[in-house]
Amino acid sequence: MIAARILIVEDDRIVARDIQHQLSRMGHVVVGMSASGEDAVRLACSQQPDLVLMDIRLEGEMDGIEAARRIRDAQRIPIVFLTAYANDEVVQRASLTEPFGYLLKPFEEPQMRTVIQMALYKHASDTRLRLSERRYAATLASIRDGVILCNRDGRVDFMNRAAETMTGWTAAEAAGQPLSAVFVAVDEETQEPLEDFSAVVLRSGEFAPPERQSRLLPRGGEEPAGIVVEERCSAIIDDRGDLVGSILVFRDLTQRRRIAEALRTAQADLAHIGRLTMMGELAAAVAHEVNQPLMAIVTNAGTCLQHLSQPQPDLDRTRVVVERIVRDAQRAGDVVRSIRALARRTPVDPGWVDISALIADTLELVRAELRRARVTVETDLRAEPPWVHGDRVQLQQLVLNLVMNAIEAMSADDLPERRLRIVTGSDAGLIRVRVEDSGPGIADADVDDIFRALYTTKPDGLGMGLSISRSIVELHGGRLTATPGAAGGSVFEVVLPVSPGGK
Ligand SMILES: Nc1ncnc2c1ncn2[C@@H]1O[C@H](COP(=O)(O)OP(=O)(O)OP(=O)(O)O)[C@@H](O)[C@H]1O
Ligand SMILES: [Mg+2]
Repeated sequence: MIAARILIVEDDRIVARDIQHQLSRMGHVVVGMSASGEDAVRLACSQQPDLVLMDIRLEGEMDGIEAARRIRDAQRIPIVFLTAYANDEVVQRASLTEPFGYLLKPFEEPQMRTVIQMALYKHASDTRLRLSERRYAATLASIRDGVILCNRDGRVDFMNRAAETMTGWTAAEAAGQPLSAVFVAVDEETQEPLEDFSAVVLRSGEFAPPERQSRLLPRGGEEPAGIVVEERCSAIIDDRGDLVGSILVFRDLTQRRRIAEALRTAQADLAHIGRLTMMGELAAAVAHEVNQPLMAIVTNAGTCLQHLSQPQPDLDRTRVVVERIVRDAQRAGDVVRSIRALARRTPVDPGWVDISALIADTLELVRAELRRARVTVETDLRAEPPWVHGDRVQLQQLVLNLVMNAIEAMSADDLPERRLRIVTGSDAGLIRVRVEDSGPGIADADVDDIFRALYTTKPDGLGMGLSISRSIVELHGGRLTATPGAAGGSVFEVVLPVSPGGK
């Protein structure tokens, strides 16, 4: 049983006392007793009872029905009328105040107990219902999706604010209208009218058919082209399983499409920029790698001309120089091909490469540069396999770049010694190549930067040598690192798997 705080409004004081005793026996608390309507309204306001037992005929001007109306309007406190007579007119007036029950006098205690309990239960469930309706109204008002509820005849019962905005109808205007008048949907492409979705649901009885996209034509022609929306519709089924209506939920897709479009454009732009960057790097790489053979060709061509301008040109010596020109020109061609392959991330011509022999060949190519820079070369190159499986031209470019950097690092005049040392070794399926110089070394802070494309500290450097070298090493499944040398200078170490990918 619910124990309640109750206000008794009864002009017959004996009856009032009697009711008070009965209520106390039932476990309720009587918070006040009054004999007039005016007094009852005041007490209801100050005591906030859970229930008012209200006689209809009272002392004073105001009768119980009027007092009940005022209490209900101001406080929503449930009222149970007590009355000795109940003609139609009185019952009708009393009904307008939505009472929670009647007790016809004289009544017995069990009767009163039941009526009070019923009134309290009903009030509690009404309160819960009102709260849930408020939550549901607040939810519908705050969501951006349009929501339209239809009855079983496909006429609009309710629509939320978003639906009002999108359709151009107010909820009041739309109420009772067929949904097809309020929500005018056409095919997105062909503009053919579409059957309204809730009619589809109501006709087919399908609980929640798949969503569809359509073009909503709002009233008043504000958006003559319509708004592209995604519609979902579900049937509303009552406790007995009968279809009692439908709910249509729709979402404006304009924003979502705009974002998707912007994303597509951004992706295309990015791909384009990526291609341009790659082209730029490719151009820089070609310029970088072709420079060395070109310079060699120019030097050798000069030597050739010198030979030929002699009165008795030494043709054998000249032939040797011309052969070098041919070799360098071929190498320039190979280099361009290898860079293209590098950009595509594929070795152009994989095969077994003897790294030690390749280093010796490369030193031969830069003989002139080494001599000019007064660099002494020491090598410790193992002669026997294992060899590296990879692209010969690319691996040669790698060694050449490291050697050129070492030579350039030792070009300052004030160096006590200029020593280039190259060591190869192998262990556990790896080949190591160390290129050591006695230059100024690399500051710790720069160790990561030097491998970035276009990073250079040289006035005429491109900053491509190490970035290309690292790409080559990575393409061969290896690592390229730089560390300070034990006695100053720097050490570049290449570690390559003998056979990348376990070939
Ligand atoms: N052996 C080295 N000793 C000291 N610093 C080095 C050495 N090798 C490279 N660096 C530093 O790393 C930078 C980047 O080298 P990288 O080979 O990528 O470009 P670069 O030599 O400057 O120009 P280029 O593109 O013409 O080769 C150099 O500018 C230099 O500062
Ligand atoms: Mg360089």
